[in-house]
Amino acid sequence: MIDIPEFSIMKEGVNYKYYIDGKWKNSNSGKLISVYNPYNSELVGNVQACTKEEVDNIIKIAHKNIECWRDTPLNERTNAINKAADLIVEFSEPLGYLLMKEIGKPLNSALSEITRTAEIFRATADSSFQLSGETILGDVFEGFSREKVSMTYRVPLGVILCIGPFNYPFNLTGSKIAPALLAGNSIVMKPPTQGPLTALHFGIILEKAGVPPGIFNIITGRGSEIGDYLTSHPGIDMIAFTGSSQTGKHLAKVAGMKPLLLELGGKDAAIVLDDADLDNTVKAIVSGAFSFSGQRCTAVKRVLPMPAIADDLLKKVTEETLKLSIGNPAENKKIGPLISSEQCEYVQSLIDDALKKGATLICGNKREGNVIWPTILDNVTVDMRIAWEEPFGPVLPFIRINSAEKAIEISNKSEYGLQGMIFTENIDLAFNIAQELEVGTVQINGQSSRGPDHFPFLGTKSSGLGTQGIKYSIEAMSRNKVVVINLSERGKLVKQCFTIDK
Ligand code: NAP
Ligand code: G3H
Repeated sequence: MIDIPEFSIMKEGVNYKYYIDGKWKNSNSGKLISVYNPYNSELVGNVQACTKEEVDNIIKIAHKNIECWRDTPLNERTNAINKAADLIVEFSEPLGYLLMKEIGKPLNSALSEITRTAEIFRATADSSFQLSGETILGDVFEGFSREKVSMTYRVPLGVILCIGPFNYPFNLTGSKIAPALLAGNSIVMKPPTQGPLTALHFGIILEKAGVPPGIFNIITGRGSEIGDYLTSHPGIDMIAFTGSSQTGKHLAKVAGMKPLLLELGGKDAAIVLDDADLDNTVKAIVSGAFSFSGQRCTAVKRVLPMPAIADDLLKKVTEETLKLSIGNPAENKKIGPLISSEQCEYVQSLIDDALKKGATLICGNKREGNVIWPTILDNVTVDMRIAWEEPFGPVLPFIRINSAEKAIEISNKSEYGLQGMIFTENIDLAFNIAQELEVGTVQINGQSSRGPDHFPFLGTKSSGLGTQGIKYSIEAMSRNKVVVINLSERGKLVKQCFTIDK
């Protein structure tokens, strides 16, 4: 890892500071939280365990500076976001390397997480027209005239709390920061404790890009210690959160009447009909199930194959899965460590439960350190936990079905509703099934995934609240401001109206 002089201010040795009002500080708690590489347990860095008093201060600072950024012309805010995109690209290699180390993501995927974030920043800057309003005349309703004119324009919400998950700690904080800044808000960011280091670099990047001190601030600390205090804080005007459904639901209870954008868990099912293109389907399922070792909300988490294709599909998916390289993320192995040993134990408990209840082990079920071999289970039934729970690990259950109706029933019975997939050559049927699936997005002949990032991305049921995606996030992080002008009759032009004599 190359140590970059620009970033030296944010840490002493491996101890990273938190960022408030343009300054890097140590917490008064005197406590640090260690971040270890999940592959080899080496220490990557320590972050500050901030106190509630520091939460108060950071929110106070973010509030104090609201007007300065809100009143900055939109073209200047846009320039800063574009400049930040340039800086993210400039530093993408060391940032990607650090990201690989702190969360165990394969190096190439870590690098693309960084560059994808730069693209989101650029596309957000290009979307500044989303902040325009409209003018409406009053004479639609009887009793109102055109002298009543409503003018709406978009204004920021205030201080936005951005909380990201461990699996995309840079990208899924960045995708909140860019629209929040464009809309003129100030920000308090809380990165995940398992993977906070790369995201801390937003402090330096945004400062260099010209975002004034106090507009963007970063607090670090465990969600279990400062999370409720942050989310229930009256100084927070909106929360943009990505993480587990459990934390998301809890947050919604404690947050009170604040606007929320919640992107939560998923249990995306791939329905494979008899006439599916086998090669395309296999490619989508293997990549969808096992990239980043299944630690994606949009991972393919269940396969529901029809009888005529089930055996061939299982055979080919297994062949391709057995080709996946396993090991060190620094060497770009496809399957790497899960984020923690607790997570490995949870995944193992799902495999054990399925095997105990009669599922057939096709491959995998092996563990070394935090690495779990990609595991395929056949003959999974609805009484098994793996049919419903989100493993966030490399486990793929096959639940054989015998009708499209059964596939819809099993898909919809899930508490989650992020995405669904249908693989078939029959587009009419695919469209009809898509209408029935209770999910945010249905992919036809493709794997479930969030991107491209200007598409709307949302979940139903326990999978989320609100819609993410560049245009939609800008909308969620701003509101209408309405000014109604009541024009006086005095200025009205007296017009001659002609009627035609018949
Ligand atoms: P998590 O445990 O819910 O943590 C997410 C974030 O919430 C972390 O920053 C965490 O901080 C914070 N947090 C924890 N308790 C909190 C509280 N009481 N108040 C406020 N914040 C709190 O989720 P994760 O393990 O990082 O991510 C995995 C989960 O996220 C999976 O379920 C996955 O499906 C979901 N996910 C969904 C999407 C999507 O877009 N739908 C994207 C990525 C991930 P600490 O780390 O300090 O605890
Ligand atoms: O983990 C949840 C992410 O939103 C998934 O994003 O589909 O681009 O991997 P992705």
